[in-house]
Amino acid sequence: MTTDAPAEAPKDCDLCPRLRGFILEQREKEPDWFNGAVPSFGDPDARLLVIGLAPGLTGANRTGRPFTGDWAGDLLYGTLAKFGFTEGQYDKRIDDGLILKDAMITNAVRCVPPQNKPVGAEINQCRPFLQARMAAFPDLKVLLCLGKISHDSTVRALGGRLKDYPFGHASEYEIGEVTLLSSYHCSRYNTNTGRLTEEMFDTVFARARALLDG
Ligand code: URA
Repeated sequence: MTTDAPAEAPKDCDLCPRLRGFILEQREKEPDWFNGAVPSFGDPDARLLVIGLAPGLTGANRTGRPFTGDWAGDLLYGTLAKFGFTEGQYDKRIDDGLILKDAMITNAVRCVPPQNKPVGAEINQCRPFLQARMAAFPDLKVLLCLGKISHDSTVRALGGRLKDYPFGHASEYEIGEVTLLSSYHCSRYNTNTGRLTEEMFDTVFARARALLDG
């Protein structure tokens, strides 16, 4: 898992022409939004890394903090609070004073993709940042991936083969020194359709908590 990439993409990252173009369009339309590669948020000494898909257009891409300001964030931050990974109150704003305890949130793709759908080349292009992010923790224990794209990119980042580690809700694998847990993504679509319930999401975070608490 070695890489020369930094753990955070520069805000004006231009490695993916399509994503760069989309962000420049958003800057024209919404000059007050963040509109850049969204940095990871949380505790740099965390043992838990939550890995989302990519910034939401009106959430993280607007506010500049992963999962902040959209529905997926309401559920994710609420669940992190329930399992003791937060201090302070999440209030959908980057300056709400929220602190993550023993946890960090990042995204498999750091720039907002059109229709929330990064293409394979973009996922691959962004993976070195994920690898560097993981490598930077002194004592990383649990990876919690939200959705299949995040899961698959994380397996690849760890040097695993996808057929050996298939994605499933509440799947759990040991890969090297870490445990890889995965959940259906906490998107509004998945919760509205009942694919992911709050209880199902809780189950995965409860498992992360139990693994960390030993
Ligand atoms: N916001 C993020 O930062 N990531 C996601 O995967 C969804 C919303």
